[in-house]
Amino acid sequence: MITLNIDGKKLKAKGEQTILEVARENGIDIPTLCYHENLAPYGACRLCIVEIFKNGRSRLVTSCLYPVEEGLEVKTNSSRVINNRKMIMELLLARCSKNKAIKELASSMGVEQPSFKSEYLEDEDCILCGLCVRACEQVVERSAISLVNRGVKREVAPPFLEPSPSCIGCGSCSYVCPTGAIKMEDREDTRILCARNWKKEFKLQKCKVCGNYWAPEEQVEYMRKKANLTLDFFNVCPNCR
Ligand code: FES
Repeated sequence: MITLNIDGKKLKAKGEQTILEVARENGIDIPTLCYHENLAPYGACRLCIVEIFKNGRSRLVTSCLYPVEEGLEVKTNSSRVINNRKMIMELLLARCSKNKAIKELASSMGVEQPSFKSEYLEDEDCILCGLCVRACEQVVERSAISLVNRGVKREVAPPFLEPSPSCIGCGSCSYVCPTGAIKMEDREDTRILCARNWKKEFKLQKCKVCGNYWAPEEQVEYMRKKANLTLDFFNVCPNCR
């Protein structure tokens, strides 16, 4: 165990933890948009910046990536942190000026309007946090979408912007998306998964007991092979098993 100081509190931490993990464990709030505890951190949104003090100097670091160190002093709400975090929020708001989640988060930080103009489309919802890409790759193990292109053309997309054959319609990308940029809707026997630049439809499997449609057939087949179970097992939905 090591000892560090966050916002004046002396805290114990395991050497492999990040500042963000230790802060959250101890009830210290740091805003994040691209972090999920079950996915590898990526450091995309920069909202989790904190100020660290080491060897008589201070600097800003992303707390979701920065590992704790013995004797480290951290401030999560210094004026330097607040000012930089507000500027990051302004950039996000300039990109996603109509997005509800971004507008609410910005407002909670006292940012109501971006002070510069976006080169992006007005209706952009994606903040390029990469949570959807990491969930698909690290949890579902399908890598159906990825971050492609550079600069202002950077976006999340399936290969060639075509419905990806690797996508099984599980909707993990939609669940983790912090801004609702990836939408999922079940209509009768069809699931629709879509973002601004792509869309895929899936036929849903019907439960033999209750008759409800409960999961895309492609997802059921994927789970069946992974778990080495018979098709009979998946003919019934989890609620009726
Ligand atoms: S949560 Fe750390 S950079 Fe997004």
